[in-house]
Amino acid sequence: MTTTHLFKPLSLGRLSLSHRVVMPPLTRMRATEQTYTANPMMARYYGQRATPGGFIIGEASQISPDGRGVPCSPGIHTPEQIEGWKLVTDAVHAKGGHMFLQLWHMGRLSHPSHLDGALPVAPSAIAAQGEALTANYKREPFLTPRALATGEISGLIERYAQAARNAMAAGFDGVEIHSANGYLLEQFLQSRTNQRTDVYGGSIENRCRLVLEVTAAIAAVWGADRVGIRLSPYGIANDSGEAEPMPLYTHLIRELDQFGLAYLHLIEPRASGAGQREVDHQNVPSAAKLFRPMWRTKLIAAGNFRGDSAEAMLADSDADAIAFGRLFISNPDLPERLRTGTPLTPYNRATFYSKGPEGYVDYTKADGSAA
Ligand SMILES: Cc1cc2nc3c(=O)[nH]c(=O)nc-3n(C[C@H](O)[C@H](O)[C@H](O)COP(=O)(O)O)c2cc1C
Repeated sequence: MTTTHLFKPLSLGRLSLSHRVVMPPLTRMRATEQTYTANPMMARYYGQRATPGGFIIGEASQISPDGRGVPCSPGIHTPEQIEGWKLVTDAVHAKGGHMFLQLWHMGRLSHPSHLDGALPVAPSAIAAQGEALTANYKREPFLTPRALATGEISGLIERYAQAARNAMAAGFDGVEIHSANGYLLEQFLQSRTNQRTDVYGGSIENRCRLVLEVTAAIAAVWGADRVGIRLSPYGIANDSGEAEPMPLYTHLIRELDQFGLAYLHLIEPRASGAGQREVDHQNVPSAAKLFRPMWRTKLIAAGNFRGDSAEAMLADSDADAIAFGRLFISNPDLPERLRTGTPLTPYNRATFYSKGPEGYVDYTKADGSAA
């Protein structure tokens, strides 16, 4: 395989990337228990995957306690969490890498065990199908969430803005807004989960309003060219999915385009299960191909890419950079392996969300040496 495109430099907002092999956000549940802080083991993991001029998007991190819903996933709302993340950003910067943080609120996919007994909040009181992971690592059916009152929305937006300020204090180079995979912002976008009758529900314009207001608030903190957003228009992860995605996402992407964000990060339909389960390619075209004509800045595509399919995507100018999720887990030196055509180490799904260093910081470089 010739890698003529993956290793061309790229300007991404204010960043100058030396290659286009991006590490997307990957929840790994290795943050410190109770405090939800990033820690030295996480700094080691991210540092292992950093390259000079490379781009890493840090795993989904709660903007506030009410956004929580996974044990040992990190937050970005306390002073300790800011300090914890500094270990990570220092490790990535020491290698010459760049790093954004993904800002997250789980909405209806949480469980009271993470919320001091309170119900999860959501656009509407509609329970997701499936099971939540409780704070004690048990699986329990999702509960019917509490619909946010209109008067609570401005506070929610301010919590996103504060998380963005905290990410700056933690040394990140920017932030990515998580508006994909069935979590709170996507719950507002999609009609199955948003049946509100106020200005945040009903029409497509109204369902997009919160995402656009959150984007504006975060862009005011960072400058739009240090903000990206992640969408999964054809996603079905976590009981999400819009019956007719095109009208909704055409409106949303055209509106987001006005901000001049650093990038749009799209998850391809063939990865609509968000990497949690194998999903057959659905009979829909590539999301990047569909939406590229509506987007003026950079586009990152994610979802089941290998070196050759990534090259083809870039060669066709359907994306500017490619994110490799599961392969980055098991190949800490992934960019170098793709550049040299070195065989890749398969990932072990059993350790995606386990505890401790196994399957986390013990994957080696191609030559078998420690990463
Ligand atoms: C273990 C694991 C954790 C993930 N965590 C996140 C996350 O925190 N935020 C997010 O937007 N996507 C998350 N995803 C989705 C990935 O970023 C990516 O879109 C997906 O794995 C498809 O890409 P791949 O086929 O290259 O793995 C996760 C996927 C996996 C496998």
